Amino acid sequence: MSKFWKPGTEKPRFVEDEEGGVLFYTSASSSSSGHGYASVERQRQRLPVFKYRTAILYLVETHATTIVVGETGSGKTTQIPQFLKEAGWADSGRMIACTQPRRLAVQSVASRVGEEMGVKLGEEVGYTIRFEDITDAELTRIKFLTDGVLLREMMDDPLLSKYSVIMVDEAHERSLSTDILLGLLKKIQRRRPELRLIISSATIEAKSMAAFFNSSRRLQGRDAEGHGPRKEPAILSVEGRGFNVQTSYVEDPVSDYIRAAVSTILSIHDKEPMGDILVFLTGKDDIDAAMQLLAEDSHHKNQGLIVLPLYSGLPRADQDLVFSPTPRGKRKVIISTNIAETSLTLEGVVYVVDCGFSKQRFYNPITDIENLVVAPISRASARQRAGRAGRVRPGKCYRLYTEEYYVNEMSSDGVPEIQRSNLVSCVIQLKSLGIDNILGFDWPASPSPEALIRALEVLYSLGVIDDDAKLTSPTGFQIAEIPLDPMVSKMILASNDLGCSEEVITIAAVLSLQSIWYSGRGSEKELDEAKLRFAAAEGDHVTFLNVYRGYVESNKSSSWCHRNHINYHAMKKVDDVRKQLRRIAQRLGIALKSCDHDMQAVRKAVTAGFFSNACRVEAFSHNGAYKTIRGSQEVYIHPSSVLFRVNPKWVIYHSIVSTERQYMRNVITIEPSWLPEAAPHFYHRQQLDPRLHS
Ligand code: CDP
Ligand code: MG
Repeated sequence: MSKFWKPGTEKPRFVEDEEGGVLFYTSASSSSSGHGYASVERQRQRLPVFKYRTAILYLVETHATTIVVGETGSGKTTQIPQFLKEAGWADSGRMIACTQPRRLAVQSVASRVGEEMGVKLGEEVGYTIRFEDITDAELTRIKFLTDGVLLREMMDDPLLSKYSVIMVDEAHERSLSTDILLGLLKKIQRRRPELRLIISSATIEAKSMAAFFNSSRRLQGRDAEGHGPRKEPAILSVEGRGFNVQTSYVEDPVSDYIRAAVSTILSIHDKEPMGDILVFLTGKDDIDAAMQLLAEDSHHKNQGLIVLPLYSGLPRADQDLVFSPTPRGKRKVIISTNIAETSLTLEGVVYVVDCGFSKQRFYNPITDIENLVVAPISRASARQRAGRAGRVRPGKCYRLYTEEYYVNEMSSDGVPEIQRSNLVSCVIQLKSLGIDNILGFDWPASPSPEALIRALEVLYSLGVIDDDAKLTSPTGFQIAEIPLDPMVSKMILASNDLGCSEEVITIAAVLSLQSIWYSGRGSEKELDEAKLRFAAAEGDHVTFLNVYRGYVESNKSSSWCHRNHINYHAMKKVDDVRKQLRRIAQRLGIALKSCDHDMQAVRKAVTAGFFSNACRVEAFSHNGAYKTIRGSQEVYIHPSSVLFRVNPKWVIYHSIVSTERQYMRNVITIEPSWLPEAAPHFYHRQQLDPRLHS
């Protein structure tokens, strides 16, 4: 499947790798056959939800909230919005919204639906993710968007009045924004009885969701005259057509799941009949490592394999390859993060390899550190992953953990993200919507009071809320207006007085992406050398400025990026985000000014936003250990940082990733005296002084 593909136009193709015999992907185009446009209607009718079309439309008509449960691939996301439109829910200027927790899923389903309806993406069918709005104010009738973007839309339109139906998709994932959204939508329903909600989910956790929407007595039944939709939610379960999946486990725990995954792929390819393989690993690093191992395979067991990565942030052309049909006689291996667990349907997968882990957010309110941790998945996730093997015919799932572990050690369900996240963004969003009693808010799952108090404390120190926990004017409202983490937004605001807004906006744009470096197969050494060319003694943030300057001086050339191991697509995105942030800054009255080479101004601006992430190197440590100032947690500079092994005395980090250690990613040097200046309430002088002299 490709974005704008129409019959007779070109589709992406696969190109043979000379050495390994492994097929690697390219976005070069050539014409090849695919399933034709004429059969789209027939394909739609074959999906399980098609049989429920009338039932779904009836329930939506008669109930304020409808919960639809159905296996991944049954057609919930792509079909229900079309059913609604066909039934007139998008007539007379109204719109249908469908939210997704993941950006990549938003883009992918929107282009699929555009293709099915035979319309150009961005017209009748559009999508919006942060910093990318592919909709038309006049034409768009079906809009896919992330749950986070819909939350932002409420700031301008608190009742979301342009939507007739809002479908909250992938509700089982319980992402932070989904939960906030559900709480707010429940409130909106009271004010807008004509609004319809559809909550869709891949697992049968529907009862608790129904109970949540039913949990106010005032909502019971119809209004006094018996008009309007019924207030208690309807639940509809869509019979899947999944085939049986045979599951196997390893006998002994594996020590290296990447190697285990690669040897499992090769052995499937060796012994099993044709059919694509979907491999679940945890992140881009894992995926790169596995792809490299596959390419290095010296026994050429990899002949005929097409190896494709799938993770959020993957360029569009590469996404399209994942969805295009497997060439005859070949076998696709899609190495994916959690994203393929339920958000995306991949046709043709017959074998699933499940490493048993995923990257998950964990926040500790005591240390005030939010980590992305590689952590065991739940049994519910493991079942979802296995289910991906049974779409086209009976399949097989290879679990890279023992059966004993699955039965006795895996937790049965995951913990909602709201209970394991830093709540700073969440609190500021609710405050900006006028919800002041955050503890008393009607949550689908309550966050911990400690995490809420921590968030309030940080927001107070950032100057976002006042003594009464109300948003401050103008700072609090301005920060809420910028679609970034409040700490990044604060950094941008602070850059106004420091005269370095151009630089800080560039840094914010780079930090909004996963990485601007290009890390191809086996090129780690070249990448490190390239980084050295831009490395700044002040740290990663300033290094980004050097990269951006070089990019501009090269006339934004792709070959310059290529030579310097910089991801050209990422740089184009940086430019795009920069433009949007400059526009927002101007609207907020921030003067666009460059500080030229005064990096102290830039470092102070970073400090103004990220003071709570300050660390000091351990005096007697020979291994580069740091301690966070506030929580006394042991942390280290990440090997990807330009300050790795440099170990300056005082630093501020942007984020933490943890593997065997807690690593700081994107680090900048500071002067300790800036901390009490930036946040007097957070850092009392007494707390810092003794260490200033040590
Ligand atoms: O939402 P749900 O998991 O129930 O299913 P869906 O995403 O609506 O997918 C329904 C069908 O559309 C599947 O057969 C997918 O293969 C197809 N599809 C596709 O070909 N390309 C996409 N980007 C999304 C869906
Ligand atoms: Mg879906």
